[in-house]
Amino acid sequence: MRYGNALSTVIEDITARKIFNSRGEETLEVDVTTTAGFGRAAAPSGASRGKAEVVPYPEDGVSQAIRKVEELIAPELIGVNAEEQEQIDFLLHEIDGTKDFRNIGGNTAYSVSLATADAASSSYGIPLFQQLAGYLASELPYPLGNVLGGGSHAHGKTPDIQEFLVLPLKATSFSEAAKANVLVHRKVGSLLKKSGGAFTGGRGDEGAWAPSMKNEDAFEIMVKACEEVSEGFGVKCGVGVDMAASTLWNSKEKCYVYARDGIERNVGEQVDFVLRLIKDYNLVYVEDPFHEEDFESFSELTKRVKKCLICGDDLFVTNKQLLAQGVRVGAANAVIIKTNQVGTLSDSWEATRIARKAQYVPVMSHRSGETTDVHIAHLAVAFQCPVIKAGVIPGDRAAKINELIRVEEALGDRAKMSVLPL
Ligand code: PGA
Ligand code: ZN
Repeated sequence: MRYGNALSTVIEDITARKIFNSRGEETLEVDVTTTAGFGRAAAPSGASRGKAEVVPYPEDGVSQAIRKVEELIAPELIGVNAEEQEQIDFLLHEIDGTKDFRNIGGNTAYSVSLATADAASSSYGIPLFQQLAGYLASELPYPLGNVLGGGSHAHGKTPDIQEFLVLPLKATSFSEAAKANVLVHRKVGSLLKKSGGAFTGGRGDEGAWAPSMKNEDAFEIMVKACEEVSEGFGVKCGVGVDMAASTLWNSKEKCYVYARDGIERNVGEQVDFVLRLIKDYNLVYVEDPFHEEDFESFSELTKRVKKCLICGDDLFVTNKQLLAQGVRVGAANAVIIKTNQVGTLSDSWEATRIARKAQYVPVMSHRSGETTDVHIAHLAVAFQCPVIKAGVIPGDRAAKINELIRVEEALGDRAKMSVLPL
């Protein structure tokens, strides 16, 4: 039920400010006020960004982004109906005038696009997911949680592989699946503490444990923790990874450098290595196992696995052309959706539609630098993403999970879990 009319969604004011993200970096937050509502959104930021992502900020960073909001964007958007998302996003492209948002900044476009959607939902007094997808949206995603890691999200002798993840495979509710992830995170922490050595309880950018450890030892601990939680809690949990392989790739030597393990692998060896990992550890999810330009190895791997999501993040950067290119050659069967990789809600929604049509699993995702903003929880439901990658702890990650617990409660009897093709 909507409690307003189209007039209540007219944009009356747009303001922007500088705040800090979970890494203590400056980021942009935008407020949109409509006749009857208010919306707010802050931009996340990446540490292992794909080459083909839009440019996050204008040359002088967040301060210049604020000026762009005040001087270019607000005058154009004030008076427009916040409900007209496509028009808002079209205008953002028009105002910017470049292909990659280098004029206003992709994070500027992101914050305005999201804050506007938020304001429209607030004007009607309905949740954001319902504003975007209507009353019938009722499927909750499975949470993919970052439990242990290294790569560019941590320092020292942590594993080369950026993220070791847990994915509950079947749960009766979102809350139950979220609890399983918390239990696995906790179990891995206690196994690490018991393993002695130099572990001090340190965690990386996304709250995953960051022990000094070889890659294979990390897999062993993950498998053990998932088995124990699957048995004890009764929710079957699988192990996944984000290899963020572009950060391991040496383009001159044409090899992947595993500095922690002291090993280099050429392209063929990398394919064999990933296949072995999938088999040995029953992996259910593998993100970016190859560098961001190697569609061919992605296709080869995807053809050779069953019941495992092969996901492109840096490979596709939520870009519809790159995704269409991947679909044509069968590269991957899942795609990360990070709206700020492309700038606007409409752009990320288009990529999600292409994914669904090609039977790729869209995975709504946080970034390593986050705020307590909860919009991606709503986007996961609105875009019908069967999986949300949002971390487990601390607060900036739990914020998204907790919002989905609230969404589940609001949906009541209509709430149902997505079905994973696993
Ligand atoms: P980010 O990447 O650091 O660019 O957010 C995280 C990821 O690779 O999924
Ligand atoms: Zn990734």
